[in-house]
Amino acid sequence: MNNNKSELELAHLHEQLRSESVAGNGLINRRHLLGLGLAGAGSLVAGNVLAADASGLVIPAWSKTPGRELSGYGSPSRFAAGVTRLAPQPNAISPGTGASRTPLHLLQGTLTPNSLHFERHHAGIPDIDPAQHRLVLHGMVRQPLAFSYEDLLAYPQVSRTYFLECSGNSGANSGPTAADNSAGGIHGLLSCAEWTGVRLSTLLEEAGVTPEASWITCTGADAASLGRSVPLNKAMEDVIIALYQNGEPIRPEQGYPMRLFVPGWEGNVSVKWLTQIKVTDGPANFRDETSRYTELLPDGRALQFTYSMGVKSVITSPSGQMTLTRRGLHEVTGLAWSGSGAIRRVEISADGGRTWADAHIEENQQALTLTRFRLPWLWEGGEAILQSRATDTAGNVQPARAAWVAMYSPANRYHYNGIQSWAVSAQGEVKNVYA
Ligand code: MTE
Repeated sequence: MNNNKSELELAHLHEQLRSESVAGNGLINRRHLLGLGLAGAGSLVAGNVLAADASGLVIPAWSKTPGRELSGYGSPSRFAAGVTRLAPQPNAISPGTGASRTPLHLLQGTLTPNSLHFERHHAGIPDIDPAQHRLVLHGMVRQPLAFSYEDLLAYPQVSRTYFLECSGNSGANSGPTAADNSAGGIHGLLSCAEWTGVRLSTLLEEAGVTPEASWITCTGADAASLGRSVPLNKAMEDVIIALYQNGEPIRPEQGYPMRLFVPGWEGNVSVKWLTQIKVTDGPANFRDETSRYTELLPDGRALQFTYSMGVKSVITSPSGQMTLTRRGLHEVTGLAWSGSGAIRRVEISADGGRTWADAHIEENQQALTLTRFRLPWLWEGGEAILQSRATDTAGNVQPARAAWVAMYSPANRYHYNGIQSWAVSAQGEVKNVYA
């Protein structure tokens, strides 16, 4: 038995939905949609759903024999094998250097599975034996300390869910022409995990920071010896030495056996494979805080130590390189985040910013994590430009692309947080555009 609605019934449902629009070009009140119940909404979303018919029930082959053996470490279904990081070709000149991206457009919820966490390495992934690794804490302290991995495991730990975003994320959208790419391809230097580890303040208090100290400088054990400076007040506030990622030992790509994790700040500061913390009375001015990870301004000066990530959002579905294959109801969904607090509001536009509607977000959003937003959208085959705009609890509002571009030199690629525009053609093709 086919449960499809007749043309007439569908037209009636569309009419009902149109009357519940919350902004131009098909954005629908979510409460109204839920009120329609399965009979209405279900048939609009999945036009070819069949009603259950017990007489025609086929028992598939996989239900007739026992399945495969248990395994030591799980892996995704072979039918989900396409859900992978967006990884570049190996770097022939500088092996191990580069970035792979989280496929944001293929994921749901807010947590990033460890195998899909984006990677950004400056000299590859060192193969560190935790038994031989040391974290040395020295400089302006009463008692320098050296910790083994085992030592750190004995300290009290905390678990916190935080996003991590590279300051070069979305940099492609600061260029002169809109790159034809997916949400993950443009914005995928962004992930979110539950990080578990030891609060840095616990270790600093044990070492006894001397009164004249005001910074720490941190170095990784990779061949890049990546170093970053962090003001002491942030180090004492919420920085952790992360040992676990979503419950399992932190992955080699993310800094095994330990990394600095600096919540809400540009990813570069979260030094992986952490081996040294020196307490100082000033920043070290490492390469990655002078010639890199500084923002060039239109007058040729540059901003330094711009740590906090700006308020930002991106629609992950529908998004670049997707095609809408049927007319009717779609859910517009995406992610929002801010380095200055929690997400308070996300608005969505389907008409290039002329009208906006509030997207649905879960209550009690935590600070410095990803927020999932959703809103129903009735696409009837017309052209559209989908946009999202986030506001955080500090009152910061995500800027339009043009406003962001006006603030910096055309050469700057860091800290891009302008509004993303996805154009939908009458054929349903979705493309990155500058609107
Ligand atoms: N730490 C070390 N030691 N070496 C690195 O190359 N890359 C930095 C930072 N910490 C890096 C590092 C950059 S630029 C970013 S964005 C984040 O780690 C990326 O973290 P991830 O690879 O776990 O996503």
